Amino acid sequence: MRSLLTSKAVRRALRPVAELVDQRVERQVRRVVGDTGGAVPSDVARELKTLRNRQRPLELFFDGTGRGASRLPSAPHLNRTIAELAEVTGKPEAAEGTVAQAFRLLVAMEALGVGRIAGGTMNIVGKLAAVPLLDPPNDDLLEIGTLYGMFGASLIRMMEKAGRDPRLTIVDPLAGTQVQPGTTMGADASGTPVREAAVRTNLSLVGPAGGATRIRQGFSEDPEVRARVSDRSYGVVVVDGDHSAAGVAADLEWAETLVAPGGIVVLDDFGHPKWPGIKEAFDKHMAAGVTRFTFLGQVAHSGYLRARAKE
Ligand SMILES: C[S@@+](CC[C@H](N)C(=O)[O-])C[C@H]1O[C@@H](n2cnc3c(N)ncnc32)[C@H](O)[C@@H]1O
Repeated sequence: MRSLLTSKAVRRALRPVAELVDQRVERQVRRVVGDTGGAVPSDVARELKTLRNRQRPLELFFDGTGRGASRLPSAPHLNRTIAELAEVTGKPEAAEGTVAQAFRLLVAMEALGVGRIAGGTMNIVGKLAAVPLLDPPNDDLLEIGTLYGMFGASLIRMMEKAGRDPRLTIVDPLAGTQVQPGTTMGADASGTPVREAAVRTNLSLVGPAGGATRIRQGFSEDPEVRARVSDRSYGVVVVDGDHSAAGVAADLEWAETLVAPGGIVVLDDFGHPKWPGIKEAFDKHMAAGVTRFTFLGQVAHSGYLRARAKE
């Protein structure tokens, strides 16, 4: 496998990181010079200031300003994600390239869309890369909990890159802000209200499949919503709505009836310390012993399950 750090595209993407390192080195030098009583020559100080001023706009492409999370993963984090992805999908030869594509897509979508994608960079990149590599049995995708629809839109693009024809269905209350039972969610870091118009704008960025997406406004446990969504078997179900143990348990139970034979369930924020209810609900669900699902493994903070294929 070609080393990540020698790949031209990744080197280019990581240039701002190298510049950050330079900046830190420069700060250390200044400290040492200060410690020994020496002064930084004025022309050097001027040059450093110019460099720093040039660096700031570059950082804005990747840092957390206006979206909460930084999109500047370290090389060890990237390498770990690639290794986990190779393990879960059984496709080591494709893992690095797919991670690179997913990472560039994430940065581009947040630059162009409204709102943001929720969660850490490696978790998002892992999900975007894993789903097409797991080769779901059909192209019907269901996302429970969409926030701004930007992840769903990105997933459409990743599936299309793999030659698939994705048809996305979304379930979310789209209640103005993110709803999480038992948790008070403050205003979103992006400043964008959570509403259907925002979701539609983001979906429009990914062409006809985005425009054809079905948006079912409401809660996944609502029988009326369920009836409207249960008209097909899904190749992929992303469980990313209510993060409480009760909410995840209900979604997993529903997913048992929705996923096509051989289909994939993505359990978001699996093992995340902030959301212990997800792993708790998963452990209970699997221990009950009446499941069609097999646990494939974990990439960053997402768990992957596959439904038993037809006998
Ligand atoms: C973490 S965000 C989803 C993020 C999105 N999947 C992404 O990757 O950017 C969770 C979303 O689920 C919604 N939600 C909460 N409870 C829900 C429920 N019972 N059914 C469907 N969506 C729910 C929240 O309002 C929020 O929009």
